[in-house]
Amino acid sequence: MATIESVLHENRLFTPDDSFVNQANLLNKEEYYSLCKEAEEDYEGFWGRMAREYIQWHKPFTKVLDENNHPFFKWFEDGKLNVSYNCLDRNLDANADKIAIIFESDKGNVTNITYRDLHLQVCQFANGLRSLNIKKDDRVIIYMPMSIEAVVAMQACSRIGAIHSVVFGGFSAKSLHERIVDTAAVAVITADEQMRGGRSVSLKPVVDKALEMSKTGSVSSVVIYQRTGTDIEWHSPRDIWWHELIVDKPIYCEPEWVGAEHPLFILYTSGSTGRPKGIQHSSAGYLLGAMVSMKWIFDYKPTDIFWCTADVGWITGHSYVAYGPLAMGATQVVFEGVPTFPDAGRFWKIIQSHSVTVFYTAPTAIRSLIKLGPELPEDYDLSSLRLLGSVGEPINPEAWVWYHKVVGQSRCPIVDTWWQTETGCHMIAPVPGAIPLKPGSCTFPLPGIMAAIIDEAGHEVKNEGGGLLVIKRPFPSLARTIWGNPDRFKNTYFPNDIGGKYYLAGDSAHRDSDGYFWIMGRVDDVLNISGHRLGTMEIESALVANSLVAEAAVVGKPHEIKGEVIVAFVVLKGLCPKGDDARKIAIELRNWVSKEIGPIAKPEEIRFGDNLPKTRSGKIMRRLLRAIGRGEEITQDISTLENPAILEQLKQPAI
Ligand code: WTA
Repeated sequence: MATIESVLHENRLFTPDDSFVNQANLLNKEEYYSLCKEAEEDYEGFWGRMAREYIQWHKPFTKVLDENNHPFFKWFEDGKLNVSYNCLDRNLDANADKIAIIFESDKGNVTNITYRDLHLQVCQFANGLRSLNIKKDDRVIIYMPMSIEAVVAMQACSRIGAIHSVVFGGFSAKSLHERIVDTAAVAVITADEQMRGGRSVSLKPVVDKALEMSKTGSVSSVVIYQRTGTDIEWHSPRDIWWHELIVDKPIYCEPEWVGAEHPLFILYTSGSTGRPKGIQHSSAGYLLGAMVSMKWIFDYKPTDIFWCTADVGWITGHSYVAYGPLAMGATQVVFEGVPTFPDAGRFWKIIQSHSVTVFYTAPTAIRSLIKLGPELPEDYDLSSLRLLGSVGEPINPEAWVWYHKVVGQSRCPIVDTWWQTETGCHMIAPVPGAIPLKPGSCTFPLPGIMAAIIDEAGHEVKNEGGGLLVIKRPFPSLARTIWGNPDRFKNTYFPNDIGGKYYLAGDSAHRDSDGYFWIMGRVDDVLNISGHRLGTMEIESALVANSLVAEAAVVGKPHEIKGEVIVAFVVLKGLCPKGDDARKIAIELRNWVSKEIGPIAKPEEIRFGDNLPKTRSGKIMRRLLRAIGRGEEITQDISTLENPAILEQLKQPAI
């Protein structure tokens, strides 16, 4: 509550500089409001106009929105297009020699690729995929380092109508295996290794391990991009080098013209219950969302050097690395490494050397860079910057003000963008030329996005107040379903008990007296660790899969840099361990979770007890555990606890 309170007391207002306003795409509030008004008065007409203006259609659509099968909405359904055509071919007339990607490696080597060459590489690789008999509707897993090749792989899949599912390079063999099985993928595209912070990290051996676990054996090809040249195990004829696959392949590949609703990709994300969900996005609606948000929120100009630091393994790297910037014909930076290597000035150095104009990163990165070198940005020339962005979690006002003052030199607006894997693009974020900013608030919904707040009974909170964040009308970039599980999609996002009508985001929010939205965080059992989503259930299942563990409960605890960290309460099958024993087992369990899910899911603390605190009906008292994890005084009623002495045990972290 303390942090929520402090955020709500934040009432400084930062009005954009005239120098910014005079060049902005949406010049002023009137222009922003007139777009909002147009959408309110004629919702379908508005999105239809946008879809015609932004997308190059192979066959134009005749109907904008089909809401008959709620909540499985269809947009622009009888239109045909190809997303890769919209990102590449359309730029060849005017922008063939324009640089599409400035790639900087971990070590600092720079490779530029023009739209002409990117088009060529995508075409050759797409032809390579076709030669492996990969076709429209087939699923392809991409497990790659940040690289030009990762973007090429995604674009090549979309060129031939194959559905990609990118798995973040930090996920374990087990997580990769689960995604391969769930999608029944026919191919995996990977690299031998990736380089991060001066160290090499294996990728291909993880793919081998994941495939050994797969009984179904749907994967018939593994394509390997040679990044470091290290020795790898070879499985013939399944394994194929990327560079050998493209030899002699034609430099043009006819795009597969797909319907607007054709699935472009599946991206797994965590929810409250069960396994990660395969969020399935459409082609046209998704592309449209990525494009309008580039224009309105990032105020995109052809002269920009755009840099989104997100990995392509997350939705941010899909919408604002692989698709949005290319569809707008932008020049963008793609960076292989980490912000702290070789030192905490790396981001600022990249901005300086490539004259970055629009910079988009996560609060966790900002906070860690403040900690490691609050003065460091002053050593670099950051005068090219004109706009800053933030995504992934609420940004605390202190970090906001530093970002604004030290990085943006009080000249650059900050777009704090609230959105989700499921929404595909920004939902609530300031149109930077039009909206005065309040540090910590994502301000107002985008034109055509009907965001609102409802109370637990499902009634709309119209004025100042807090509650659950919803979006009242379907919008083009909304996920279409959960892969293979439409019921779960409906029950999670359009549950009957709160109306069933609105898209339920899973976040709570507050609107202040000026109408500004403030995101308070998740209302479900989803944690936000360094801006990455993890379900408590997933981590608990991983813990109990260890043969020593009888029961486990996981909660989040606020952390200065990561936003939140994981505290795990564990009951072992044997006696509750003490001292050195406890420490040893805790370390073992931490590594176990890292192997089961990936290093991002490692518990920061593990606490052992003889039991977990439960209600009489046997439900774990999570609120109580949260209070213990945070070291807060226990104010809950504990009279129903069977064994209050366990609270003392659980107060001591083993690590
Ligand atoms: C949180 C990332 C506050 C939120 C694009 C949401 C934010 C979840 C913000 C989605 C923001 C994202 N302010 N909270 N600007 N952006 N979130 O799917 O809790 O990885 O529900 O998508 O991150 O995370 P996801």
